[in-house]
Amino acid sequence: MCEYCGCQQIATIAELYREHDDAAAQVGLVRSALAGGRLDEVAAGCRQILVILAPHTVVEEEGLFSEMADEFPDHIEALRSDHREIEKVLGEAADGPPDDPTWPDRLLKALYLLGQHILKEQDGVFPAALIALDPVQWERIEAVRAQNAAYDAGTSDPGHGHAHHEYADHEHIDTDHTDTSSTDERDRG
Ligand SMILES: [Fe+2]
Ligand SMILES: [Fe+2]
Repeated sequence: MCEYCGCQQIATIAELYREHDDAAAQVGLVRSALAGGRLDEVAAGCRQILVILAPHTVVEEEGLFSEMADEFPDHIEALRSDHREIEKVLGEAADGPPDDPTWPDRLLKALYLLGQHILKEQDGVFPAALIALDPVQWERIEAVRAQNAAYDAGTSDPGHGHAHHEYADHEHIDTDHTDTSSTDERDRG
């Protein structure tokens, strides 16, 4: 039934939204730690944001963006470049707060960029994708998520895997019924 009711794409986008919310919550914590001069906390928060964004970015870049790049090449390229900039600046805290005195200011800019980036996606490529992509394309995107989750489960602590379980039901899509003729009949019905 998934290919008719649209729950596949809604679930895929909902998970991306939830990861945005998780990242944004961490950004708030990092900002207040930075304002309080608690740099170890700042660095830990940066690492946590990168943990949240790692699978998210793979789903976007290898899944959603790949499907949308022909139609919106410049927009997608800008979003990819935001990812690289955010990863670079936050990644400097991988081993604790960096000594570089310019880092806190650069971090604030990167956190601002992340906020703008989230808004750009939620106001741009996400709603555009919901209109433009067909069920087969959404299945390809979800396959990237599933592949990444399987890899993740084998390499990191289980605490980060729980978010995927909620959508486990969407993984067994009946691919025998994805031909467009039956979809058209259903749409007319
Ligand atoms: Fe993104
Ligand atoms: Fe995103």
